[in-house]
Amino acid sequence: MVAHFSRRLRVVVVLVFVVVMSVPLTCAGRMGGSRQKLEVQKHLKRLNKPALKTIESPDGDIIDCVHVSHQPAFDHPFLKNHTIQMRPNYHPEGLYDENKMSSESREYKSSSITQMWHLGGRCPEGTIPIRRTKKADVLRASSVKRFGRKKHRGIANPRSADPDLVNESGHQHAIAYVQGGKYYGAKGTMNVWEPKIQHPNEFSLSQIWLLGGIFGEDLNSIEAGWQVSPDLYGDNNTRLFTYWTSDAYQATGCYNLLCSGFIQINSEIAMGASIFPVSGYGGSQYDISILVWKDPKEGHWWMQFGNDYVLGYWPSFLFSYLAESASMIEWGGEVVNSEPDGEHTSTQMGSGHFPEEGFGKSSYFRNIQVVDGSNNLKAPKGLGTFTEQSNCYDVQKGNNGDWGSYFYYGGPGKNPNCP
Ligand SMILES: *[C@@H]1O[C@H](CO)[C@@H](O)[C@H](O)[C@H]1NC(C)=O
Ligand SMILES: *[C@@H]1O[C@H](CO)[C@@H](O)[C@H](O)[C@H]1NC(C)=O
Ligand SMILES: *[C@@H]1O[C@H](CO)[C@@H](O)[C@H](O)[C@H]1NC(C)=O
Repeated sequence: MVAHFSRRLRVVVVLVFVVVMSVPLTCAGRMGGSRQKLEVQKHLKRLNKPALKTIESPDGDIIDCVHVSHQPAFDHPFLKNHTIQMRPNYHPEGLYDENKMSSESREYKSSSITQMWHLGGRCPEGTIPIRRTKKADVLRASSVKRFGRKKHRGIANPRSADPDLVNESGHQHAIAYVQGGKYYGAKGTMNVWEPKIQHPNEFSLSQIWLLGGIFGEDLNSIEAGWQVSPDLYGDNNTRLFTYWTSDAYQATGCYNLLCSGFIQINSEIAMGASIFPVSGYGGSQYDISILVWKDPKEGHWWMQFGNDYVLGYWPSFLFSYLAESASMIEWGGEVVNSEPDGEHTSTQMGSGHFPEEGFGKSSYFRNIQVVDGSNNLKAPKGLGTFTEQSNCYDVQKGNNGDWGSYFYYGGPGKNPNCP
């Protein structure tokens, strides 16, 4: 039903949702200590749904196995009558065709990446694993309202990279991108690292962005990858994450399942849970594949992790521009540079080493692809690269048989050439 809404109606839908959700939350800021405590309790109750089974992960996480129809998405007023899609109608062509991979790349593919909480057990069929939000997680946020949402609105915008804006927001990128077409999905395989974060309110991530709309105004964004964010998770572990917004990070959207939006169907992978193992400098390399694509039938944006896990989908009605298609795709790294001590942060991007060092030492994205209007995966045409300060974090693209379109990216941040 929702799929037939006009764009104008969809915008109304989103606005109504914002009002409904923000009333109890914005009150928190104005309340005194004990009322604030109550607000935190209430928020935790909203986020943490009754579990059929609970699993303790060695990294300190608690994973709740929640019945699929009790997940946070269904708190959304417009999802009350939603029929969960348990599988996408269409996969992009070639999705499972891993035969094109060389035996060499198949080798590091087979070094299987999993999530640390699996060491503590598995969730039963019909449930989804949700990382439990603890009181301390919410208290680390500047307010209940800000918890699980992006603080800064920095996003790489190579089109009109306004130097002042770019540098003011403190976000630094090293990315590859395509723009100007109609994109119905994106894929990429990235190796996984555990970058060092200098200051707890900074983060380092590597991800795919699917973008539509206008930067800073009404940008629609779907993002997925891995991140280290002490502020969000309370530790330095590398975690699988997603993000979405339909208004340039202002009122809508959140990380993972920390608000109503993403509908998860998979019982094996938890959003926000640690990825294990990670790559070592000069040692074993571990990579993950992420594919996000728009189902041509229902219009929802689906996400797949690796070759085996279809995690779920963002319903089309969450978005305005992305209800049709994306107009820009980005792949790469982002860090926050809060300039602790008045100097450039030493927070690392990717492996913390520059692209020149190559395989085994630098971080990479390989086999990056976009989904075209016929639901086919294609090499991106006219791939550009962008970085604010290449002496701090850099990017270098290439192309070959096994890796298709690829690039190395990242860096150490602060160094003699990046004071
Ligand atoms: C959901 O279904 C019920 C019963 O059919 C109906 O009364 C209600 O208006 C529906 N809600 C939405 C949001 O569509
Ligand atoms: C950001 O600031 C740094 C240091 O002031 C400068 O070297 C760099 O050129 C700026 N970046 C952009 C994109 O203008
Ligand atoms: C995270 O790493 C920083 C140094 O990079 C360290 O100071 C901090 O104690 C670590 N935090 C946790 C929770 O391990």
